[in-house]
Amino acid sequence: MNKEFLWGAALSNVQAEGAYLEDGKGLNVYDTLEIRFETGQNTLSDTSVAADHYHRFKEDIAHMKEMGFTAYRFSIVWSRIHPNGDDGLVNEAGLAYYEEMIDELLAAGIEPVVSLVHFDMPDHLRTEYNGFMDRRVVDWYAGHVAVVAGRFRDKVKYWITYNEMNTAFYGPRLVAGAEKPEGMGDVPFHALLTAHTQLAHAKAVLEIKKTNPDAMVAGMDAYASIYPLTCRPEDVLAAQMADDFRNNLTFDVMVNGEFPSWYTKFLHNNGVELDLNAEDMQTIKEASKRLDYLAFSYYQSDTACAPAGCADRLDFENKMLACADRNANPYVKANAWGWQIDPVGLRVALKALYERYHKPLFIVENGIGIDDRLENGKVYDDERIAYYQGHIRNVTDAIDYDGVEVLGYLAWSPIDFLSSHKEMRKRYGFVYIDRNDDGTGSLERFPKKSYYWYKKVIASDGTDLEDDIEY
Ligand code: BG6
Repeated sequence: MNKEFLWGAALSNVQAEGAYLEDGKGLNVYDTLEIRFETGQNTLSDTSVAADHYHRFKEDIAHMKEMGFTAYRFSIVWSRIHPNGDDGLVNEAGLAYYEEMIDELLAAGIEPVVSLVHFDMPDHLRTEYNGFMDRRVVDWYAGHVAVVAGRFRDKVKYWITYNEMNTAFYGPRLVAGAEKPEGMGDVPFHALLTAHTQLAHAKAVLEIKKTNPDAMVAGMDAYASIYPLTCRPEDVLAAQMADDFRNNLTFDVMVNGEFPSWYTKFLHNNGVELDLNAEDMQTIKEASKRLDYLAFSYYQSDTACAPAGCADRLDFENKMLACADRNANPYVKANAWGWQIDPVGLRVALKALYERYHKPLFIVENGIGIDDRLENGKVYDDERIAYYQGHIRNVTDAIDYDGVEVLGYLAWSPIDFLSSHKEMRKRYGFVYIDRNDDGTGSLERFPKKSYYWYKKVIASDGTDLEDDIEY
């Protein structure tokens, strides 16, 4: 890796902090989210305690330092800074809290990588305005970004405007604080969310750059390499379309500052217009010129096949937009939640993204959920080590063989905390948190075997991936 390559991990603060009503914080869309269990899920927590990261972040950062992190991605919870979101009320206690966290990281020699809007929109903006479906929310978000970026101008260099923006249509309530209004079709819903989130991202880029022209700013996708389920030409076309809807559209607009022709045609054929005027498009164009890198999460790959029973070509496309079904790939295994484990898919993603955009890439989430067992203070998580071995090897290959420019690698995650479906049992951390979904547990921290393995990986700059740790 080059000298500046960043090693570390990432976390989502709403999922880890707890303290959901402390120090002036407002409720957010994650706090109030009603969960429909995902495959493999059978337990649930609320957000009142989570991993108690709010009170124990210094201990957690000490573990990151011990592992040798040079970077750490976390999110500044919107509803801690602007509890309501629409009234200009700024909660100083929230800003002071994150300032202390950033200072702690800097003192530990760890570069903060800050995400804005990571499942943390003030719930008031959802209930009153239907989140990013309402244009006014775009400007309140931009105002929030201006406050945060202004406050941390001299301390934070790396910014991510919007966590996994490409999933707004697929998880609207959590990702965009929005729900599809009754009677509205998928295509207009998609178009409105796409227009407003793109504008929000663009305004955030410009706000951050206005306060600090040297800041490094990225947009972010949840990326799943998508393969045709078979080599039937219709399945190949379906995979291309799924790739366009789910992976490419967001970055295409962010990087090129305009909408790709296929999307413009798609909307036109459906009789739908984008809610963006000439000035908005100018903002999007300006922001595209100031974008420094692309950040993405990668957990798994997916397959796509042509939908059955399509009335015509447009029906085919509309079905592809709505289709989020996972088709099992017979060549890869999956974890207990059905998430397919495909390390080569990460190299496929890196190659595809770099060849398409020619921008530096930053892997800001990669990891596996496991129902880890704590026994005598230890967790032998060899399955996690194997997952990381495969994925890091493919990052190295993308750099060494494909010439991809990669800024860094951040695992998901430093410590255990709630999943996006509020499940503690689905653990991702290098550090085990003694907390269970039934509310029991001491909240004590226990380094897992993978903790020591990852420490060695970082110390060797990714060259020593052997699982030979004495634990
Ligand atoms: C990403 C999100 O989608 O995946 C995280 O940015 C999330 O917030 C992570 O936790 C893992 O997914 P899950 O659903 O297992 O928590």
